[in-house]
Amino acid sequence: MSKKALWSGRFDGDMDDSVLEFTSSLNIDRKLVFYDIMGSLAHVIMLRDRKILEEEDSEEIIKGLRTLLSELHDNELVIDSDLEDIHTNIEVSLTELIGPAGGKLHTGRSRNDQVATDLRMYVRDAVLEVVNSVNLLIKVLVDIAQNTQRMIMPGFTHMQHAQPVSVAQHMMAHSFRLSRDADRFMDAFERINVCPLGSAALAGTTYPIDRKLTSDLLGFRRPTENSADSVSDRDFVIEAAFCSSLLAVHLSSMAEELVLWSSQEFGFIEMDDLCTTGSSIMPQKKNPDVAELIRGRSGGVIGDLVSLLTMMKGLPLTYNRDMQLDKEPVMRSLDTVLQCTNMMSKIVAAMRFNEDTMLNSASKGYINATDLADYLVAKGLPFREAHGVVASAVRYCILEDRGLEELTLSEMKGFSDMIEKDVFGILPIEECVERRNSFGGTSSQSVDVQIFESLNSLMEREDRVRQEISLLDECWDELTG
Ligand code: ARG
Repeated sequence: MSKKALWSGRFDGDMDDSVLEFTSSLNIDRKLVFYDIMGSLAHVIMLRDRKILEEEDSEEIIKGLRTLLSELHDNELVIDSDLEDIHTNIEVSLTELIGPAGGKLHTGRSRNDQVATDLRMYVRDAVLEVVNSVNLLIKVLVDIAQNTQRMIMPGFTHMQHAQPVSVAQHMMAHSFRLSRDADRFMDAFERINVCPLGSAALAGTTYPIDRKLTSDLLGFRRPTENSADSVSDRDFVIEAAFCSSLLAVHLSSMAEELVLWSSQEFGFIEMDDLCTTGSSIMPQKKNPDVAELIRGRSGGVIGDLVSLLTMMKGLPLTYNRDMQLDKEPVMRSLDTVLQCTNMMSKIVAAMRFNEDTMLNSASKGYINATDLADYLVAKGLPFREAHGVVASAVRYCILEDRGLEELTLSEMKGFSDMIEKDVFGILPIEECVERRNSFGGTSSQSVDVQIFESLNSLMEREDRVRQEISLLDECWDELTG
């Protein structure tokens, strides 16, 4: 009950049960338990180092916290739902375990800096996990690209056939979006990875604490600069939620294509049985539910971002209890994008391309019309005039129900006498793809460059994530003794 609240001394009466339920954050912040114990370990080591706590008390607290940690590992840590949050739980459990010395842990800090520190540690780990998962999806896409440089599909604008492209080029387009998402998360990581601990309630503390030491012990880059800012802003949460939203949007767009491509109308791909579902009434059905759910879940991620932004927009400095509501949306966003990215890797790695259907589709819709215009430009016609000539030829072909490449040379000359026999060399769609050899274009040579660049930056990012993770592991090892 409320009697056990850390602040109960100021009050005569008990808090109403329904009020406790309304104000409690335990349901969500219990996910911070590991970080809360680690934060406390770093804090007490610093207090000992600075001689703010006696050696003996500090040792007891450290031992007690390590015991709680092993209880956590063994799934034996008792969490009391009558206590309003995880911070209270750990402090109360510690005091129950070691006696009055436990009450000295909270010297020179407040729950305000404590919760900001815990959450930064949580988000930091979650971001690295998401980046790892995005890296994996990029690998799957690049892998497909390496095998599909000669596989041709229609490229679309406005969902109309535009120009033929290789499947590889299309896969790499998605892969570059995702690379930026991963980089964006890693940029945000630098702003997340700073330590508010020691900012105390809002104004700092009178104790001679060493914030640099706690920051180092917890694997942060450095302590935050301003105590009031440290306990009052949640921009790091919003940034993580934004990065998640944009990733969710990219995944959703990709999922939408997979749904379309696996339809009877397109028939470009077949999803593996591994990740499709059937219908309870229509025996023939094979539904792309996984892709649909990835698409559907993006709505919740965007919603969480909007909820965080709205929650923060009217708050004066410094800590306000509204901010307790930051954890659920950001944790859910990061969880959701992690799950969706993992699922996307699974379905993309297992899908099969119907090469003939794609090629056949790419041959329709006068998709080589731009190439004919470019041909005329090469012969000296201004592009605008060439555009007009080809438009007339296309209209003629529509009436005739033939492709541009099916016209005879004399029919073609009827549209422009600049057209020669060599035109038949540029009209096949394989040529249209291979001749788009500009930097970033769809030719296989150009896609090779993209694959090379993309693998390079992927390797760099993988290294970076590995380094960050091993740095944190070292910190945890040191703190747990
Ligand atoms: N449960 C609170 C939160 O998540 C902890 C901070 C409480 N601080 C306070 N001044 N009431 O934000």
